[in-house]
Amino acid sequence: MTTTHSLTAEHLRLGYGDRTVIEGLDLAVPPGRVTAIVGANASGKSTLLRAMSRLLEPREGRVVLDGKEVHRLPARQLARTLGLLPQSPIAPEGITVADLVGRGRHPHQGAFSRWTRRDDEAVAAALEATRTELLADRAVDELSGGQRQRVWIAMALAQQTDLLLLDEPTTFLDASHQVDVLDLLTDLNAGRGTTVVMVLHDLNLAARYADHLVALADGRLHAAGTPAEVLTQECVRTVFGLESRIIEDPVSGSPLILPIGRHHVRDQAGREPVPVRKAHG
Ligand SMILES: Nc1ncnc2c1ncn2[C@@H]1O[C@H](COP(=O)(O)OP(=O)(O)OP(=O)(O)O)[C@@H](O)[C@H]1O
Ligand SMILES: [Mg+2]
Repeated sequence: MTTTHSLTAEHLRLGYGDRTVIEGLDLAVPPGRVTAIVGANASGKSTLLRAMSRLLEPREGRVVLDGKEVHRLPARQLARTLGLLPQSPIAPEGITVADLVGRGRHPHQGAFSRWTRRDDEAVAAALEATRTELLADRAVDELSGGQRQRVWIAMALAQQTDLLLLDEPTTFLDASHQVDVLDLLTDLNAGRGTTVVMVLHDLNLAARYADHLVALADGRLHAAGTPAEVLTQECVRTVFGLESRIIEDPVSGSPLILPIGRHHVRDQAGREPVPVRKAHG
């Protein structure tokens, strides 16, 4: 069983150069729960995750882990508690899957300590959990986008941290592997008490899998709470500029967001949509 940790952001202002991306953000990650962060492209989700994992220094405010400012913690010490899967990680050229996943064990090794059986076991468990065992000897560069994504998730799992931050872990994955990964994270949360924070673009999967949902709009916290509290038509309109209808997901009971575009929409009386007239053909 893991220890639960408190992770909070206080009055955060984040940016790059002279551009401010996040402004006045306060956030408390519920310990031992699954949190999903949603928001439009460029709303600051990855920037926030980077700051929470010490990769980006705040302009103002601070990120606090168990009462200590993360930007003052030694990197290795933080990496034993908190793991990050970035949005677009880059693998060293030619590295094999097993070696990459093995790098997840680095924070657990001292300057001179050797690879142990525990490290082997952690890597094997991570490969098995992500169904990447058969890829172990392949070069990461040669994998498909979805295979590679699962290997990165394996590396984050091998780190065996109590807190796991994942930036779009389901990108590149087919429908079945998306559900697999989210089920796996839920298992980790339920079985080991791992606190999970993930950025997701699929609102319906976010609504299903998150205990706590955070919606960012233009670098500010728009809403936070349970998926049912946060995912209203008004929220989807403000955060994504999208009209929608929200019904109950018949599988899970969570909110199911049905986007309304300009085409393929029945009229109020339920009549079929007018077929789209094609300019050509
Ligand atoms: N390294 C960087 N240097 C300068 N600007 C950056 C950098 N990284 C991100 N930005 C800018 O910060 C803003 C927020 O980017 P961020 O990557 O946090 O968005 P996001 O919400 O994760 O978007 P997406 O859904 O597309 O991943 C964007 O305007 C982006 O152009
Ligand atoms: Mg991003």
